[in-house]
Amino acid sequence: MSDRDKSDKLWGGRFSEATDEFVERFTASVQFDKRLYQYDIEGSIAHARMLNKVGVLSDDEVEQIESGLESIRKDIAAGNFDWSIKLEDVHMNIEAALTARIGEIGKKLHTGRSRNDQVATDIRLYVRDAIDSLCTLIDKLQSALIDLAEREADTILPGFTHLQTAQPVSFGHHMMAWNEMLTRDYDRLLDCRKRVNLSPLGAAALAGTTFPIDRNYSAELLGFDAPSNNSLDSVSDRDFAIELAAAASLIMTHLSRFSEELVVWASVQFDFIDLPDRFCTGSSIMPQKKNPDVPELIRGKTGRVTGHLMSLLTLMKSQPLAYNKDNQEDKEPLFDLLDTVEDCLQAYIGMVPAIRCKRENMLEATRRGYATATDLADYLVKKGLPFRDAHEVVGKAVSLAIELKQDLAELDLEQLQQFSELIADDVFEVLTLEGSLAARDHFGATAPTQVRSAIETARSKLAAR
Ligand code: ARG
Repeated sequence: MSDRDKSDKLWGGRFSEATDEFVERFTASVQFDKRLYQYDIEGSIAHARMLNKVGVLSDDEVEQIESGLESIRKDIAAGNFDWSIKLEDVHMNIEAALTARIGEIGKKLHTGRSRNDQVATDIRLYVRDAIDSLCTLIDKLQSALIDLAEREADTILPGFTHLQTAQPVSFGHHMMAWNEMLTRDYDRLLDCRKRVNLSPLGAAALAGTTFPIDRNYSAELLGFDAPSNNSLDSVSDRDFAIELAAAASLIMTHLSRFSEELVVWASVQFDFIDLPDRFCTGSSIMPQKKNPDVPELIRGKTGRVTGHLMSLLTLMKSQPLAYNKDNQEDKEPLFDLLDTVEDCLQAYIGMVPAIRCKRENMLEATRRGYATATDLADYLVKKGLPFRDAHEVVGKAVSLAIELKQDLAELDLEQLQQFSELIADDVFEVLTLEGSLAARDHFGATAPTQVRSAIETARSKLAAR
C-alpha cells in the first residue's frame, strides 16, 4: 500500500464509521416504509407461489416460505418485530427475518425479482386499498350531506356571488352542490384505480428476468387486473401516486371550500348555523369564544396535501429510466396525504349530521339583501319589457328601497309603479322569497321540488355503487 492509500485508509477508517452510520440512516426507509409490511408479505407470497407454479421453487420450499412469512406477519401485527435500520427497508427486514426463521430456503424468495418491482408492487397494493377506503368515506359523507339536504330542502338561504347576496336558494340545494363535488371526487378515484391496479411484479430490477416467470399468475393472485406492459416503466412509474395525490388535493380543495363556508356561517356576523360544541374549541383568554377549529384546521391541512402533490410531481420530473433511489421519497408525502384526507373526511362525516340551521336568521338575511330583484326584472320581461330596460327599472326600485331601508316587497304598489306602469298587483307574488325559490323550477335549479328530485337521483346513484 502506498502512503497515500494508508492515509486514505486511516482517514477513511475514522470517517467511515461516523459517515456510515449517518448514511445508513440517511438512505434507510424502514422508519416509514414498514407500514407497507402487509402488502410486502402479500406480494412475496404471490411471487413465491408463482415461482412454484413455474417449477423454480418446490412445493416444500414454497410452503416453508409462506408459513415463515405468515409468522413474520403475525409478529409485526403484534408489535413483536425488531425493525433494523441496518437492513434499510421493509423488504430487506422481512427477507432477513425469513431467512433467520426458515434457514437457507428463505434466500430463494428473491429469485427472479428485485426490490424495484417489489416496492412498486407494494405501493400499488397500498394505494389500491387507500382508494377503496377513501371511496367508502366519501360515500358516507355524501349520504350525510344528502340527508341534511333533504331536511333543509325548504330552508331559504341567501345565495351569494362575490359574497354579496344574489338570489334566494334552498339550503338543501347548497348541500347538493357540495354533493356534486364529492361525486366527481369519487369518480376520479375510481378512474385512478384502473391505472393503479396493474402488476409491476416480474419487471425485476428493470429488464425482466431470465427465469420462466408467469406474470399473469402473480398479477391474478394479487387481484391486479393485468401485469404492467413495460418493465422499465413498471419499476419507475409513479404516475398513479401523482394522480391519487391530485385527486386527494381536489377532495381537500372541496373540503376546504365547505370549511370556509361553515366558518363564515358560524360567525356572529352571519349566524346561519350552529356547529356542535364537540367540533369547536374555546379561547384561553376570551370566555365568549366558540371557535370552529375543525373546519379551520381542515382548510389549513389542504395546503399540506396540495404541497405533497407538488413534492411528488417535482420528485419525478427529472428521473431518467428506470428505478432511481429518488423514488424512495414518494412514500412519506403519499402516506401523509392519505392519512390527512382520511382524517378530514372522517371529521366531516361526524360534523355534517350535527349542523343546525338557524332558519330564521338565514331568511332574515335573504330579506335584507334584495334577493328578489332578479325576480322583479323577470316579471317585467314577461310583461314585454326588454331585459336590459327591466334591469334599469329594478335598479331604481332597489335604490329607493335602500333609501327607505325597506325590502322590495315592502314598497307599495304606487311606489313601484313610478318606475314602470307594467307593474301591477300580481307583482307581490314574485317578490316573496318562497315564490322566488319555487319559480326556479327546472332541472338543476333551486326550487325545492327540483332539490327533492336531485336528492332522489343522488340517493339512487349511491345505492348503485
Ligand atoms: N427502499 C426502496 C424504495 O423505497 C426500495 C427499492 C430499493 N431499490 C434499490 N435498487 N435500491 O424505493
